[in-house]
Amino acid sequence: DAGEHDSFMYKEMLEQPAAAERVLRGRLDERFGTAHLGGLNMDPRETRAIRRVKILGCGSAYYVGQMGAALVEELARIPADAEAASEFRYRDPVIEPDTLYVAVSQSGETLDTLLAVQEIRRKGGRVVGLVNVVGSAIARACDGGIYLHAGPEVAVASTKALTNMFLGFALLSLQLGRVRDLSIADGNRLIAGLARIPEQIAEILQREEELAEVARRLAGSESLFFIGRVRGFPVAREGAQKFKEISYRHAEAYQTSELKHGPLALISEGVPTVAIVPDDELTSRNVGALHEIAARRGPLVVVTHEGVDLGDVDAMRIDVPRNERELDPILLTVPLQVLAYHAALHLGHDIDKPRNLAKSVTVE
Ligand code: BG6
Repeated sequence: DAGEHDSFMYKEMLEQPAAAERVLRGRLDERFGTAHLGGLNMDPRETRAIRRVKILGCGSAYYVGQMGAALVEELARIPADAEAASEFRYRDPVIEPDTLYVAVSQSGETLDTLLAVQEIRRKGGRVVGLVNVVGSAIARACDGGIYLHAGPEVAVASTKALTNMFLGFALLSLQLGRVRDLSIADGNRLIAGLARIPEQIAEILQREEELAEVARRLAGSESLFFIGRVRGFPVAREGAQKFKEISYRHAEAYQTSELKHGPLALISEGVPTVAIVPDDELTSRNVGALHEIAARRGPLVVVTHEGVDLGDVDAMRIDVPRNERELDPILLTVPLQVLAYHAALHLGHDIDKPRNLAKSVTVE
């Protein structure tokens, strides 16, 4: 059982710092500024031959796959994207020999993801898995992989497994990057950043009371938006996913830049927006969008970094610790887990077993 905790989700959320340490342990190499991932079963020549990376997963695994694609592009400079594994096989996908396919799954049993892996392998493609459960169907179906070592995850809403998926992508990107153009200095910059992640997650979790207060205010609305752009957009998607899964509120993710092309029509006093505004090259544009929302009286929660100037916008502000920009997405995601959890708790829902959902879906 969940022991002293009211739910597995809560317990698993708190386990994140320890879980994050486990996925990193023994895999960081400061001498060469790289990561060691023996389970990938790829030599440096094969690694250098990769021209594209395609990531497949379902639900949260798909959204973290989008974060992973950004990491691969930024660190390894290989074109990368993520796709819902549940759609992939239905469009008779073109499988390329110089593409590295990555299947992401906590359980390793999600049928849609497994069938995507089988489709790729049938057509001669190479697939590696980012999987939590050792010896699971997806892990066995892949050519190699990275085990996530998050420990058993029971709650439907993924927390520690998702965090470790992100860190798994960081390790993969580091290794891919270092056999290509990523410098040893940049490699070590990332390694130092990764080493700080567990304690920074703990820091965010310590601010639970403040986040619970924000969550209670959000829980009162039937409908809300989560917005972000570039690195922040998959964070918004994952935040909306968590929120809708367990609070049953309509939560929709949008690219901040697309707001003016449609959803702005819906912004009003009753429709709050959770905006992801990291301190990066897009901060001032993001802050501009906040003004657009505030002008329509839309309540705002802003997940950002200390020191970011939001101007005179009236917002509930959540600052997360700074790290290397590439690693921001995971630290921006953690408070959104806490928001979803506390909204659901406030509304009196079954946190671990949301209605109509299963932890792993083994049917088509
Ligand atoms: C869905 C769950 O059905 O499966 C999601 O409701 C989960 O929460 C998704 O993210 C993928 O699961 P897995 O085990 O493949 O990571």
